[in-house]
Amino acid sequence: MTEKLKSLLKSVQSVCVLTGAGISAESGVPTFRGEGGLWSRLKPEELANFDAFMKNPENVWAWYQHRKEIMHSVQPNAAHKALAEMEKIIPDFTLITQNIDNLHYRAGSKNVLELHGNIERSYCIKCGKYYSDVQITKEKPIPYCECSGIIRPDVVWFGENLPIDVFDKAVEATRRCELLLSIGTSAVVYPAAGLPLQAKEHGSYVVEINVEYTELSPYVNETIIGRAGEVVPALLEIMKEERQ
Ligand code: OAD
Repeated sequence: MTEKLKSLLKSVQSVCVLTGAGISAESGVPTFRGEGGLWSRLKPEELANFDAFMKNPENVWAWYQHRKEIMHSVQPNAAHKALAEMEKIIPDFTLITQNIDNLHYRAGSKNVLELHGNIERSYCIKCGKYYSDVQITKEKPIPYCECSGIIRPDVVWFGENLPIDVFDKAVEATRRCELLLSIGTSAVVYPAAGLPLQAKEHGSYVVEINVEYTELSPYVNETIIGRAGEVVPALLEIMKEERQ
């Protein structure tokens, strides 16, 4: 970590954070890419797009049910908790996540921009009604709405647009922040991956935290190689200095 970043952390008033699957890896949630990643053994085109869902909703629901069970069995880690603390001490703090695992809320973050949805929510594709407690069973492997429409998970699939109001807020935040932290993302899925670049264009200092270099690395001000669960709490400690 450079001296420049240390001194910025002590004084910064406007911070934006973009998180990806890597922040939840230490909690035990599998990432998508890389060794052991979900997309190395499963096909996104069979599980994470609307046509696949309409062709075989049972299969897609079974996969989301499985992931939901994993997510319920894990706990937020030190990185999620440190970000919830940062929200309390930084006057203008925006947490943007690509994750659907709900772990930021469970760690105590209040204001989270969920770009790719949330696995706990679902909605009817016919009438749009939202559900928060859809249960899948062997007898009822596909959930239906009271209007008879199929209910789908409220997650963004390949080929679908991000929720526009959420994305707009994310863009605004990246344009005004002084510091952007990109944590645990391979930075290959757009438009989310473009947010750190936008921040940089608007004069923000951009720092990446990852266990390895990524496609974003050549464009950031600093890459800190390390585990999110160790690096993010360390950044928080520096931020807290001189703010008491
Ligand atoms: P990826 O699986 O593509 O990338 C995870 C990143 O986390 C990699 O760069 C790892 O090196 C890094 N990583 C792993 N463990 C880490 C740790 N302990 N600390 C820090 N970094 C660590 O996940 P995303 O970038 O989130 O989209 O993927 C983006 C999108 O692709 C997802 O939101 C999902 C997927 O398809 C949708 O579902 C729409």
